[in-house]
Amino acid sequence: MFKIKKDSIDPKQVPFKVLTSGDKMPAVGLGTFGSDRFTHEEIAEAVKGAISIGYRHIDCAAVYENEAHIGNVFEEIFNSGEIKRKDLWINSKLWNDQHENVIETCKKTIADLKCDYLDTYLVHWPFRNYHSPGCDGDARNPDSKPYNHDEFMATWREMEKLVEMGLVRNIGTSSVTIPKMKLILRDATIKPSVNEMELHPHFQQRELYDFLVKNNVVPIGFCPIGSPTRPDRDKTDDDTVDIEDPIILRAAKRLGVHPAVVCIKWAVQRGQVPIPFSVKELEYRSNLQSVISDPLTKEEMEDISNINKNCRLIKGQVFLWESAKGWEDLWDLDGTITK
Ligand SMILES: NC(=O)c1ccc[n+]([C@@H]2O[C@H](COP(=O)([O-])OP(=O)(O)OC[C@H]3O[C@@H](n4cnc5c(N)ncnc54)[C@H](OP(=O)(O)O)[C@@H]3O)[C@@H](O)[C@H]2O)c1
Repeated sequence: MFKIKKDSIDPKQVPFKVLTSGDKMPAVGLGTFGSDRFTHEEIAEAVKGAISIGYRHIDCAAVYENEAHIGNVFEEIFNSGEIKRKDLWINSKLWNDQHENVIETCKKTIADLKCDYLDTYLVHWPFRNYHSPGCDGDARNPDSKPYNHDEFMATWREMEKLVEMGLVRNIGTSSVTIPKMKLILRDATIKPSVNEMELHPHFQQRELYDFLVKNNVVPIGFCPIGSPTRPDRDKTDDDTVDIEDPIILRAAKRLGVHPAVVCIKWAVQRGQVPIPFSVKELEYRSNLQSVISDPLTKEEMEDISNINKNCRLIKGQVFLWESAKGWEDLWDLDGTITK
């Protein structure tokens, strides 16, 4: 039977971000993509453990193929009477092969998660380009295409309907660049309230971050620790390691914490919402604890702002279309949408 642990962290102490709807999203969440290293049951168990020690924000996605397992945990938690549905912030994401089937796909996710409604539902990637989970990093699908705004907006209209239907409270995007976001903000009736994107000390995406904040879109940061144990298909020789950076190590030493914890502190103090993954209680507890204790100093924050290495880890190469030159084409590096 689910029980809140006696030594849990008080969720009321955890900061939050107010979205355009007025809803309050806890400023740190638990990731649930196990990078092929953990079973669905282990991840569901981690969700249960994390909620029992004070997490109230869980980042899910249909493509992680574990929503039904996590749903069993949510059901157990709600049945325990210890925590109500409204006390949790549950996010999920629409996978690329379901852009033309938004409403049914969202209903399936809600049924799998056994949660009645979603607090946030995101379009996982701004492309319909599909690859099978776990496929080879260089695999290209001949049906893949560059970003098509009309197609994206057709999907977005269905996302807006989910809000009108009461299935979803807030809708958002993931891995959207500035030129794409400009068009979406121009044409959306319900504007994206969040953009989930890669954010860690070695990949700060300052221009995009500032643009989002200016437009009331809250940045959610994935891979906040630099995803040290991501799958090999997402590793290249040029990648740098955030938790080995001397500036991060120095702050970790001062505070007597793991460098991962410094990355989480930096993220929340900067203003994004990190969603670190871990199945280990010691780790996920210290990640949550990190945001309510011992802040980084002004100098440490400034020093970390200077260690950006523009090192994108999740390059997305499996979503490339046949004529694309390289993974850079997904990210509109010259400020225009790559055709
Ligand atoms: N929207 C998207 O397209 C997208 C893309 C990628 C990820 N995400 C989401 O973002 C979440 C987080 O990203 P991620 O899992 O790739 O990377 P991450 O959170 O940066 O790194 C996770 C790894 O860091 C280590 N770790 C965590 N806390 C630690 C601590 N306190 N001390 C020491 N080590 C610690 C763990 O390694 P060990 O297990 O070895 O201990 C863990 O596996 C995912 O789970 C997923 O929910 C979304």
